[in-house]
Amino acid sequence: MTITRRNLLTAAGASTLAAILPSTAHARRDGVIELNAGPSRQRLYGADGPLSDLWTFNGRAPGPEIRVKRGERVRVRLTNNLEEPTSVHWHGMRVDNAMDGVAGLTQEPVPPGDTFDYEFVAPDAGTYWYHAHSRSWNQVARGLYGPLIVDEANGPVFDPARDLTLVIDDWRLTRAGAFDVASLGAMMDWSHAGRLGNWLTVNGEATPQMTLRAGEAHRLRLINASNARILEIDPNRFGGKVLAHDGQALPAPASVNYAPLMIGPAQRVDLLVMPEPGGDFALEELSGDAPFAFARFTVEGEASARAPVPRLPAPDLPEPDLSGARTIGVEMTGGAMGRMGRVTYNGKVLRRGDFRRTGQVWAFNGVANLPEQPLAAIRRGESVIIETVNDTAFVHAMHVHGHHFRVIERSGTDLDDGRPWRDTFLIGPQQTVRIAFVADNPGKWLYHCHMLEHAAAGMNTWFEVA
Ligand code: C2O
Ligand code: CU
Repeated sequence: MTITRRNLLTAAGASTLAAILPSTAHARRDGVIELNAGPSRQRLYGADGPLSDLWTFNGRAPGPEIRVKRGERVRVRLTNNLEEPTSVHWHGMRVDNAMDGVAGLTQEPVPPGDTFDYEFVAPDAGTYWYHAHSRSWNQVARGLYGPLIVDEANGPVFDPARDLTLVIDDWRLTRAGAFDVASLGAMMDWSHAGRLGNWLTVNGEATPQMTLRAGEAHRLRLINASNARILEIDPNRFGGKVLAHDGQALPAPASVNYAPLMIGPAQRVDLLVMPEPGGDFALEELSGDAPFAFARFTVEGEASARAPVPRLPAPDLPEPDLSGARTIGVEMTGGAMGRMGRVTYNGKVLRRGDFRRTGQVWAFNGVANLPEQPLAAIRRGESVIIETVNDTAFVHAMHVHGHHFRVIERSGTDLDDGRPWRDTFLIGPQQTVRIAFVADNPGKWLYHCHMLEHAAAGMNTWFEVA
């Protein structure tokens, strides 16, 4: 399904910036932020569109922006007002394992009517997000996610008025323009490219209009909250440069010389934009038949001089020892048009005919979904390389929990873009990608595809750091 530019009536118009940015999470007097997961209604297809039945945190998708300083303690009370169990994962945050929010691996899912208290210290500055991690293919698709921004230790580096969070989601809407509930869980999506939508929102709004100041340095924090859509954008069209990938700053702002820039599900990109006077522009998604403008920017003011560009502090992550690292192999198989040999699921060998019944269509090393034994048992502090071979016909967005890694090699070619730190990487059909990191965070950590239908249909494994 491609994104088509539906005839958006007069839709969002010129809303004010304040109305467009995610609301801020306010802590109670005791410092606890409340997140209430529950049903709510929202217009996704512009102001004249119908109401959609969603599941959200605090009544809106995205949920409130949680904003803290690096090193600060974050305390969140999750209340589950849904009809099914849930949990919250702090995507990209190197938290204690018990706070990682993975239902069935790091905690019991929180039953309806119950609460769960999360508490962690924000270890790294940057752009992160939180989302449900229990039947994520269903709960994230319905809107259970929000932004999590960690300011630099000495306070925000960019002027807060020039620092904008854009949570982007790809929705599948019905003809009438409401969220398509009926197609949730469609096997066709699970065995192909995942649940792709036909409509994009930014912070829950259709094509918002925002204002930037000419000559000033802006930080646009793009968060891809889609279940499966890889967003393709070209920052060269408006002079944008990349400041950070997945929260971690690059050594210097970098031009994109491999346009379009692909932002996989769960990935984040921070862009530096210094607009010229009168340089109005749109953010366009390029993967469809025609460019889809999903956010518009008006540039105000006459710049006399260009403001200096603030410098982001360098990432503070342990450097893996590549020569001494142990290599762990992961072979991805299955899916439509893919090969699938003998597959084990829940300890039993599946036969071809079982796939439809179990919903499992993908495997890592011949195992669909979580194996009983970890993929690897790693000594704390050990450097590891995960070599992932994609023997399927689809692109995947692979995410490691609890650690950031460097992408060191893609199909035999050494990467020339400075081996950026990431927590999620894209891997094309028949590609091999090698990532490296120091496994310094003890516990049971998931390694899975963040195309959430793929994860549900088998693309999940875990490793243990002891
Ligand atoms: Cu963004 Cu396993 O999660
Ligand atoms: Cu996948």
